[in-house]
Amino acid sequence: MKKLALLALVVMTLFPNLNAQKAPADIQLPDPKIEGGMPLMEALKNRATIREYSDKALDNQQLANLLWAACGVNRPDGKRTAPTARNAQQIDVYVYTEKGVYLYVAEKNLLKGVASGDHRADAAMQPFAAKCPILLVFVANYDKMKGFNDEAREFYGATDAGYVSQNVYLYCASEGLATVVLGSIHRDKIKDLLGFNGKAILGQPVGFQK
Ligand SMILES: Cc1cc2nc3c(=O)[nH]c(=O)nc-3n(C[C@H](O)[C@H](O)[C@H](O)COP(=O)(O)O)c2cc1C
Repeated sequence: MKKLALLALVVMTLFPNLNAQKAPADIQLPDPKIEGGMPLMEALKNRATIREYSDKALDNQQLANLLWAACGVNRPDGKRTAPTARNAQQIDVYVYTEKGVYLYVAEKNLLKGVASGDHRADAAMQPFAAKCPILLVFVANYDKMKGFNDEAREFYGATDAGYVSQNVYLYCASEGLATVVLGSIHRDKIKDLLGFNGKAILGQPVGFQK
Protein backbone atom coordinates (compact mmCIF):
# COMPACT_ATOMS: atom_id res chain seq x y z
CA MET A 1 0.00 0.00 0.00
CA LYS A 2 2.83 2.35 0.97
CA LYS A 3 4.58 1.48 -2.33
CA LEU A 4 1.44 2.42 -4.29
CA ALA A 5 1.13 5.77 -2.52
CA LEU A 6 4.82 6.43 -3.18
CA LEU A 7 4.40 5.54 -6.85
CA ALA A 8 1.41 7.91 -7.12
CA LEU A 9 3.47 10.67 -5.52
CA VAL A 10 6.36 10.11 -7.93
CA VAL A 11 4.02 10.09 -10.94
CA MET A 12 2.27 13.30 -9.79
CA THR A 13 5.63 15.00 -9.21
CA LEU A 14 7.02 13.97 -12.59
CA PHE A 15 3.80 14.69 -14.51
CA PRO A 16 2.06 17.58 -12.73
CA ASN A 17 -0.30 18.12 -15.68
CA LEU A 18 -1.56 14.54 -15.77
CA ASN A 19 -4.68 15.41 -13.83
CA ALA A 20 -5.24 18.58 -15.86
CA GLN A 21 -5.59 16.46 -19.00
CA LYS A 22 -8.96 15.36 -17.69
CA ALA A 23 -10.21 18.91 -18.06
CA PRO A 24 -11.25 20.39 -21.41
CA ALA A 25 -9.44 23.47 -22.70
CA ASP A 26 -10.57 26.81 -21.31
CA ILE A 27 -12.85 28.90 -23.53
CA GLN A 28 -12.31 32.65 -23.73
CA LEU A 29 -15.77 34.11 -24.25
CA PRO A 30 -16.40 37.17 -26.44
CA ASP A 31 -17.19 40.41 -24.60
CA PRO A 32 -20.81 40.27 -23.51
CA LYS A 33 -23.18 42.53 -25.41
CA ILE A 34 -24.84 44.48 -22.66
CA GLU A 35 -26.93 46.95 -24.62
CA GLY A 36 -30.44 46.40 -25.79
CA GLY A 37 -32.72 43.58 -24.80
CA MET A 38 -36.38 43.80 -23.94
CA PRO A 39 -37.78 46.50 -21.66
CA LEU A 40 -37.84 45.15 -18.12
CA MET A 41 -41.62 45.18 -17.71
CA GLU A 42 -42.02 43.22 -20.94
CA ALA A 43 -39.41 40.67 -19.84
CA LEU A 44 -41.27 40.24 -16.54
CA LYS A 45 -44.49 39.76 -18.49
CA ASN A 46 -42.80 36.97 -20.51
CA ARG A 47 -40.89 35.25 -17.69
CA ALA A 48 -41.99 31.63 -17.52
CA THR A 49 -40.76 28.10 -17.03
CA ILE A 50 -40.33 26.11 -20.26
CA ARG A 51 -39.23 22.46 -20.21
CA GLU A 52 -38.99 21.50 -23.90
CA TYR A 53 -35.67 22.18 -25.58
CA SER A 54 -34.35 21.65 -29.09
CA ASP A 55 -30.84 20.30 -29.72
CA LYS A 56 -29.64 23.70 -30.91
CA ALA A 57 -26.91 25.07 -28.66
CA LEU A 58 -26.32 28.68 -27.73
CA ASP A 59 -23.30 30.18 -29.49
CA ASN A 60 -20.43 31.66 -27.46
CA GLN A 61 -21.79 35.19 -27.77
CA GLN A 62 -25.15 34.13 -26.38
CA LEU A 63 -23.37 32.19 -23.64
CA ALA A 64 -21.27 35.22 -22.73
CA ASN A 65 -24.38 37.40 -22.59
CA LEU A 66 -26.28 34.82 -20.53
CA LEU A 67 -23.49 34.38 -18.00
CA TRP A 68 -22.94 38.10 -17.68
CA ALA A 69 -26.66 38.54 -17.02
CA ALA A 70 -26.53 35.69 -14.49
CA CYS A 71 -23.74 37.11 -12.32
CA GLY A 72 -21.18 38.93 -14.44
CA VAL A 73 -19.13 41.93 -13.35
CA ASN A 74 -21.18 45.10 -13.95
CA ARG A 75 -19.15 47.76 -12.10
CA PRO A 76 -15.51 48.89 -12.01
CA ASP A 77 -15.22 47.76 -8.38
CA GLY A 78 -15.87 44.15 -9.44
CA LYS A 79 -19.41 43.89 -8.12
CA ARG A 80 -21.86 41.70 -9.96
CA THR A 81 -25.27 41.70 -11.68
CA ALA A 82 -26.63 39.55 -8.82
CA PRO A 83 -26.41 40.71 -5.19
CA THR A 84 -24.73 38.55 -2.55
CA ALA A 85 -24.80 38.76 1.24
CA ARG A 86 -21.83 40.83 2.45
CA ASN A 87 -20.67 40.93 -1.20
CA ALA A 88 -19.30 37.39 -0.73
CA GLN A 89 -19.74 36.65 -4.47
CA GLN A 90 -19.89 33.03 -3.46
CA ILE A 91 -22.15 31.64 -6.17
CA ASP A 92 -20.03 29.76 -8.67
CA VAL A 93 -21.73 29.01 -11.97
CA TYR A 94 -20.75 25.76 -13.65
CA VAL A 95 -21.71 25.18 -17.27
CA TYR A 96 -22.43 21.56 -18.20
CA THR A 97 -22.33 20.77 -21.92
CA GLU A 98 -22.08 17.65 -24.04
CA LYS A 99 -18.29 18.15 -24.20
CA GLY A 100 -17.48 18.95 -20.60
CA VAL A 101 -18.03 21.01 -17.50
CA TYR A 102 -16.70 24.56 -17.19
CA LEU A 103 -16.53 27.13 -14.41
CA TYR A 104 -17.54 30.67 -15.33
CA VAL A 105 -14.77 33.05 -14.22
CA ALA A 106 -16.65 36.34 -14.32
CA GLU A 107 -13.71 38.73 -13.94
CA LYS A 108 -11.95 37.13 -16.94
CA ASN A 109 -15.07 36.40 -18.96
CA LEU A 110 -13.71 32.89 -19.27
CA LEU A 111 -15.02 29.34 -19.12
CA LYS A 112 -12.43 27.37 -17.22
CA GLY A 113 -12.49 23.68 -18.17
CA VAL A 114 -12.95 21.46 -15.13
CA ALA A 115 -14.12 18.05 -16.39
CA SER A 116 -14.22 16.45 -19.83
CA GLY A 117 -17.19 14.48 -21.08
CA ASP A 118 -20.95 14.65 -20.81
CA HIS A 119 -21.96 14.79 -17.14
CA ARG A 120 -25.36 16.43 -17.56
CA ALA A 121 -27.26 13.30 -16.47
CA ASP A 122 -25.15 13.18 -13.32
CA ALA A 123 -26.35 16.65 -12.44
CA ALA A 124 -29.99 16.88 -13.59
CA MET A 125 -32.57 14.34 -12.42
CA GLN A 126 -35.13 15.07 -15.12
CA PRO A 127 -34.30 13.69 -18.58
CA PHE A 128 -35.33 16.85 -20.46
CA ALA A 129 -32.74 18.83 -18.46
CA ALA A 130 -30.00 16.24 -18.94
CA LYS A 131 -30.39 16.62 -22.71
CA CYS A 132 -30.48 20.40 -22.87
CA PRO A 133 -27.29 21.71 -24.61
CA ILE A 134 -26.53 24.07 -21.70
CA LEU A 135 -27.13 23.14 -18.08
CA LEU A 136 -26.08 25.69 -15.48
CA VAL A 137 -25.38 24.59 -11.91
CA PHE A 138 -25.18 27.16 -9.13
CA VAL A 139 -22.82 26.25 -6.29
CA ALA A 140 -22.42 28.10 -3.00
CA ASN A 141 -18.64 28.14 -2.57
CA TYR A 142 -17.93 27.94 1.16
CA ASP A 143 -14.29 28.99 0.64
CA LYS A 144 -15.74 32.43 -0.11
CA MET A 145 -17.98 32.38 3.01
CA LYS A 146 -15.39 32.13 5.73
CA GLY A 147 -17.06 34.62 8.08
CA PHE A 148 -20.47 32.90 7.91
CA ASN A 149 -21.67 30.32 10.44
CA ASP A 150 -23.31 27.08 9.23
CA GLU A 151 -26.85 28.46 9.30
CA ALA A 152 -25.83 31.63 7.44
CA ARG A 153 -23.90 29.66 4.83
CA GLU A 154 -26.98 27.52 4.17
CA PHE A 155 -29.38 30.45 4.11
CA TYR A 156 -27.35 32.91 2.04
CA GLY A 157 -26.07 30.17 -0.26
CA ALA A 158 -29.68 29.43 -1.19
CA THR A 159 -30.99 32.99 -1.34
CA ASP A 160 -28.07 34.29 -3.40
CA ALA A 161 -28.33 31.43 -5.91
CA GLY A 162 -31.98 32.46 -6.30
CA TYR A 163 -30.98 35.91 -7.51
CA VAL A 164 -28.67 34.41 -10.13
CA SER A 165 -31.44 32.12 -11.27
CA GLN A 166 -33.91 34.97 -11.62
CA ASN A 167 -31.39 36.93 -13.69
CA VAL A 168 -31.18 33.91 -16.00
CA TYR A 169 -34.98 33.72 -16.20
CA LEU A 170 -35.17 37.39 -17.17
CA TYR A 171 -32.38 37.13 -19.72
CA CYS A 172 -34.16 34.14 -21.28
CA ALA A 173 -37.47 35.99 -21.32
CA SER A 174 -35.79 38.93 -23.04
CA GLU A 175 -34.04 36.74 -25.64
CA GLY A 176 -36.86 34.29 -26.32
CA LEU A 177 -34.91 31.39 -24.77
CA ALA A 178 -36.33 28.56 -22.67
CA THR A 179 -35.33 27.76 -19.09
CA VAL A 180 -36.43 26.19 -15.81
CA VAL A 181 -34.82 26.36 -12.39
CA LEU A 182 -34.22 22.94 -10.83
CA GLY A 183 -34.18 22.06 -7.16
CA SER A 184 -34.12 18.40 -8.15
CA ILE A 185 -30.44 17.90 -8.86
CA HIS A 186 -27.90 15.24 -7.89
CA ARG A 187 -26.06 17.30 -5.26
CA ASP A 188 -23.72 14.52 -4.18
CA LYS A 189 -22.72 13.52 -7.72
CA ILE A 190 -22.10 17.15 -8.66
CA LYS A 191 -19.87 17.60 -5.64
CA ASP A 192 -18.05 14.31 -6.29
CA LEU A 193 -17.22 15.36 -9.84
CA LEU A 194 -16.28 18.97 -9.18
CA GLY A 195 -14.72 18.57 -5.75
CA PHE A 196 -15.60 22.01 -4.33
CA ASN A 197 -15.97 23.01 -0.71
CA GLY A 198 -19.62 24.02 -0.73
CA LYS A 199 -23.08 23.00 -1.81
CA ALA A 200 -24.74 22.66 -5.21
CA ILE A 201 -27.93 24.69 -4.78
CA LEU A 202 -29.84 24.77 -8.08
CA GLY A 203 -29.59 23.69 -11.69
CA GLN A 204 -30.93 25.60 -14.68
CA PRO A 205 -30.96 24.36 -18.28
CA VAL A 206 -31.06 27.06 -20.94
CA GLY A 207 -31.88 26.45 -24.58
CA PHE A 208 -34.18 27.06 -27.49
CA GLN A 209 -37.76 25.96 -27.12
CA LYS A 210 -38.63 22.88 -29.14
C1 LIG B 1 -36.62 26.73 -5.96
C2 LIG B 1 -37.34 26.11 -7.14
C3 LIG B 1 -37.10 24.80 -7.46
C4 LIG B 1 -37.70 24.23 -8.58
N1 LIG B 1 -37.38 22.95 -8.92
C5 LIG B 1 -37.89 22.42 -10.06
C6 LIG B 1 -37.48 21.12 -10.46
O1 LIG B 1 -36.65 20.46 -9.83
N2 LIG B 1 -37.99 20.63 -11.61
C7 LIG B 1 -38.89 21.35 -12.38
O2 LIG B 1 -39.31 20.83 -13.41
N3 LIG B 1 -39.29 22.59 -12.01
C8 LIG B 1 -38.80 23.15 -10.88
N4 LIG B 1 -39.15 24.43 -10.52
C9 LIG B 1 -39.98 25.23 -11.42
C10 LIG B 1 -41.39 25.43 -10.87
O3 LIG B 1 -42.11 24.23 -11.01
C11 LIG B 1 -42.05 26.56 -11.63
O4 LIG B 1 -41.35 27.75 -11.38
C12 LIG B 1 -43.50 26.71 -11.19
O5 LIG B 1 -44.27 25.65 -11.68
C13 LIG B 1 -44.12 28.01 -11.66
O6 LIG B 1 -44.04 28.12 -13.05
P1 LIG B 1 -43.41 29.44 -13.72
O7 LIG B 1 -41.94 29.44 -13.41
O8 LIG B 1 -43.67 29.32 -15.18
O9 LIG B 1 -44.08 30.63 -13.09
C14 LIG B 1 -38.60 25.00 -9.38
C15 LIG B 1 -38.84 26.33 -9.02
C16 LIG B 1 -38.23 26.89 -7.94
C17 LIG B 1 -38.49 28.35 -7.62
